[in-house]
Amino acid sequence: MRMRKKKNLTARMEACSRYGISDPASLRGSWRSLCPQAREVHVEVGCGKGRFTAGTAQAHPDVLLIAIEKVPDAMVVAMERCRDAGLTNVFFVDGDAAALPDYFAPGEVDRLYINFCDPWPKSNQARRRLTHGNFLQLYRRILKSGGEIHFKTDNDKLFAWSLEEIPQFGFALSEVTTDLHAQGPVGVMTDYEAKFYQDGKNINRCVAALTEAVLPFPTDLHRVKSRWMDAFALSISPEELGRQVFAAGGHLWNVFQLRPCLAGEDARQALAQLDISDAFVFWEDGPVQPLGDTPVPDLAEGFYLVDRDFSWTYAQTDSRHAFFCRRG
Ligand SMILES: C[S@@+](CC[C@H](N)C(=O)[O-])C[C@H]1O[C@@H](n2cnc3c(N)ncnc32)[C@H](O)[C@@H]1O
Repeated sequence: MRMRKKKNLTARMEACSRYGISDPASLRGSWRSLCPQAREVHVEVGCGKGRFTAGTAQAHPDVLLIAIEKVPDAMVVAMERCRDAGLTNVFFVDGDAAALPDYFAPGEVDRLYINFCDPWPKSNQARRRLTHGNFLQLYRRILKSGGEIHFKTDNDKLFAWSLEEIPQFGFALSEVTTDLHAQGPVGVMTDYEAKFYQDGKNINRCVAALTEAVLPFPTDLHRVKSRWMDAFALSISPEELGRQVFAAGGHLWNVFQLRPCLAGEDARQALAQLDISDAFVFWEDGPVQPLGDTPVPDLAEGFYLVDRDFSWTYAQTDSRHAFFCRRG
């Protein structure tokens, strides 16, 4: 639901300026300096109007809580709540979850809260879900080892999908429930949650702990292709993908006609400059395997190379055209 524009937003923000962090990147690696006695740093993504933010900061005065929200009209309400409660261990960033690694250093965050994020129900919107692998990879970059994501949602389909998605990115699930409040209210509720609870709607919750230091690489070809598309076709609309990629023979390498990339000798040179010992190779009809010591020129034509994080890819078509690009 789109929020109505708040009157006097600037004046209201200024009245809570003690709580706002206007340049979060400048605190990267030193957030604890805001609250030196804090035991842990917790981050809430998409805090909305902040019922949970204020309640959680109040309940845990020994934790520094940073709330990120991309809609200032909602965030100002959350800031006012914290100010009115006189809290000193909570701060707000008017920003986007996609920028988390710009705000926080590796391992700086002990816990991440994702509460009632937008479900983006259509399959071609999956990449926008805050529990999508692209976001999980960002969370991996800022959470400490063993750090946790605490996820709640009213959306049963999003929850079921997330339970499949999350473990593929090196997180171990626990405390999984599809009816958190079955025996009565548990924990601090968010604004959305309080409404759903009143309406008798079940609330899903799980905890996901970062356990695997190395990102697992999928072995299933379907998953590899879908991760490849998520990483390298992000900027291309579903309509364009349908017309130009899938309808044109179905080769993934058609993506390179639609986004910036290096081609030919430039692509080969870009590859030659990388350490590819931990790269993977796949063919569109399978298999998927670690590249290991296989020299690239010895590979049969029409293959793709990709690193474990899907941060770069190299493709050679069956007519020996070469392409290289980085994620995004
Ligand atoms: C459905 S509301 C839930 C608000 C609150 N968590 C609650 O449960 O009451 C989702 C909130 O997440 C915010 N949001 C969505 N995507 C975001 C992103 N990428 N970065 C930061 N905030 C985001 C939206 O602006 C919105 O306020």
